Amino acid sequence: MSPRRRLRVFETEFGRMAVAICYDVEFPEIVRAAARAQAHILVVPSCTDDRQGFLRVRYCAQARAIENQMYVIHACTVGSLPMVPAVSLNYGQASILTPSDFPFSRDGILAEGSPNQEMMVVGELNLRTILDTRSAGTVLPLFDSKRSAEIASAVSFVTLSQPGFDILIRHTRRDDFESIIELSRVCYPDDVPWTAEQLAAHLEVFPEGQFVAVDRTTGLVVGMSASLIVRWDDYNLETNWQDFTANGTFRNHDPAGGRTLYGAEIMVHPASRRQGVARRLYDARKELAIHLGLPRIRAGARLRGYHRYAATLSAADYVKAVVNGTASDPTLSFQIAQGFRVLGVVKHYLGQDGESLGHAAVIEWLNPRIAHEAAGATLSRA
Ligand SMILES: CC(C)(COP(=O)(O)OP(=O)(O)OC[C@H]1O[C@@H](n2cnc3c(N)ncnc32)[C@H](O)[C@@H]1OP(=O)(O)O)[C@@H](O)C(=O)NCCC(=O)NCCS
Repeated sequence: MSPRRRLRVFETEFGRMAVAICYDVEFPEIVRAAARAQAHILVVPSCTDDRQGFLRVRYCAQARAIENQMYVIHACTVGSLPMVPAVSLNYGQASILTPSDFPFSRDGILAEGSPNQEMMVVGELNLRTILDTRSAGTVLPLFDSKRSAEIASAVSFVTLSQPGFDILIRHTRRDDFESIIELSRVCYPDDVPWTAEQLAAHLEVFPEGQFVAVDRTTGLVVGMSASLIVRWDDYNLETNWQDFTANGTFRNHDPAGGRTLYGAEIMVHPASRRQGVARRLYDARKELAIHLGLPRIRAGARLRGYHRYAATLSAADYVKAVVNGTASDPTLSFQIAQGFRVLGVVKHYLGQDGESLGHAAVIEWLNPRIAHEAAGATLSRA
């Protein structure tokens, strides 16, 4: 039944007020709707056969009184009626409950009967006090509840670390360089590792864009990500990694003209993979894009699994299969799981990569906080 149909409206010297009757006090939304429809008194008839059931109703009734700043009259059955199966045994303790604020009794109970005894409970309800407390109480839960949806949407979810694996994401420092170089040797055994000069240049031009993941239990760097801002119009879809990153130095970083955060690197130590480390590095990267007001992140996802399919599938068909979920790629599947979409597939993105055979998917993530004037598949935006 709708809460409105359970309202008994009456005129008072303070205007229209209402009494609501509620048989489902465990559902806060119903009572809140009644309170918003001017219910100032809630009547909760209840029938519970043991103390536990009674307390469930009683605690909920008290909560409704506090959160809606209203009187709650809890009228319950007591005693036993052995000849009537549904109410053969009852447990109850009638009460009149109030909000928990200065004008009311300290324990939020205006009047209360004795447990499980048939009796009349009497108390004086002051409707003026209820009106005052709704507009000028110590706290204003009924008024503030209008913002509940907004507040809930702003809640940040935090990841609880697994026992023995407590990860800190922080900006890269110079004393991380040695660990990052070692990490790149482990992650790309056949490739030239990052150099201290390149990493120093990243910190010089764009320190906010460089992150490491540190295992707090061991103090070891187990992951890193590096990014720069580019003016997309200065490049085209076929641009390779060397050109996008000015040979890994990020000297082409263009915070004044660029609107695209470019992901140049992300890697996680093999022993720490599939534990959410890269996802957290990407969360930091996304937060950075949002903080800087950049409409998008783009990157080249090197197709690490392509060498297994190269004999039978073109790179474009392989990417389609990964996007459709019929194939899995160690890099692209990860990027798709982070909310990226594929804009195109390019050859010669990476020179000597035996796994991707040089192929990469150009991928994009759109900043949800920015209206996407530039969101189309076009690549010709700054
Ligand atoms: C790609 C890489 C950074 C992912 O790091 P990671 O810490 O293992 O990734 P996460 O644990 O955060 O993965 C998050 C999600 O991505 C997806 N994912 C990650 N690795 C995947 C894989 N090998 N295959 C399929 N999906 C994968 C999964 O959905 C995963 O969630 P789940 O583990 O709950 O299923 C890591 O494999 C790596 O360092 N690879 C080598 C370097 C590299 O190629 N970097 C990319 C350059 S473009």
